[in-house]
Amino acid sequence: MNIRDAQPCDEESIRLLLGYYGLQYEGLEGFIVALQDGKMMGCARLDAAQGEIHSIAVHPTHRGHGIGSSLVKALEAKACKGLYARTTAPGFFVKMGYAPLPDERKRAWSDCRQCDVFDKCTKTLMYRCLP
Ligand SMILES: CC(C)(COP(=O)(O)OP(=O)(O)OC[C@H]1O[C@@H](n2cnc3c(N)ncnc32)[C@H](O)[C@@H]1OP(=O)(O)O)[C@@H](O)C(=O)NCCC(=O)NCCS
Repeated sequence: MNIRDAQPCDEESIRLLLGYYGLQYEGLEGFIVALQDGKMMGCARLDAAQGEIHSIAVHPTHRGHGIGSSLVKALEAKACKGLYARTTAPGFFVKMGYAPLPDERKRAWSDCRQCDVFDKCTKTLMYRCLP
């Protein structure tokens, strides 16, 4: 498997993969992709300003083979201090060494503060302090 920064030629594959899981695509900046035999099998995005992992997804036929964890490790190598994730897959992030934080901490993000369904949100805020 090869992990590299996303390029414009990856845009359609990323859009399709995120769309499969109902995740929004908002531009290529910060994305990395995992390739197997030249095909895009997973993607994830680092928001360096917020120190946050976004939009992690692995092709449905390739889940459970270490691609997601490799993507997280690749983003961690680019980050400093620590990383947050607001995620519907907290169990995966626990495996990666992240710990859940109280829901109220999500109010540090303006999109969470302005969200009409904050109290019904199914995303867990996770954090890992990086060495
Ligand atoms: C979550 C996701 C990115 C993980 O990628 P993956 O390639 O399947 O994960 P890995 O194979 O690297 O798994 C690493 C470990 O996490 C576990 N794991 C994977 N997904 C998990 C989940 N949803 N819940 C709990 N544990 C999970 C694996 O069992 C594995 O554990 P092990 O080391 O004991 O074997 C992938 O399942 C996915 O694309 N899910 C759908 C999209 C999604 O929910 N994205 C998150 C939105 S915030």
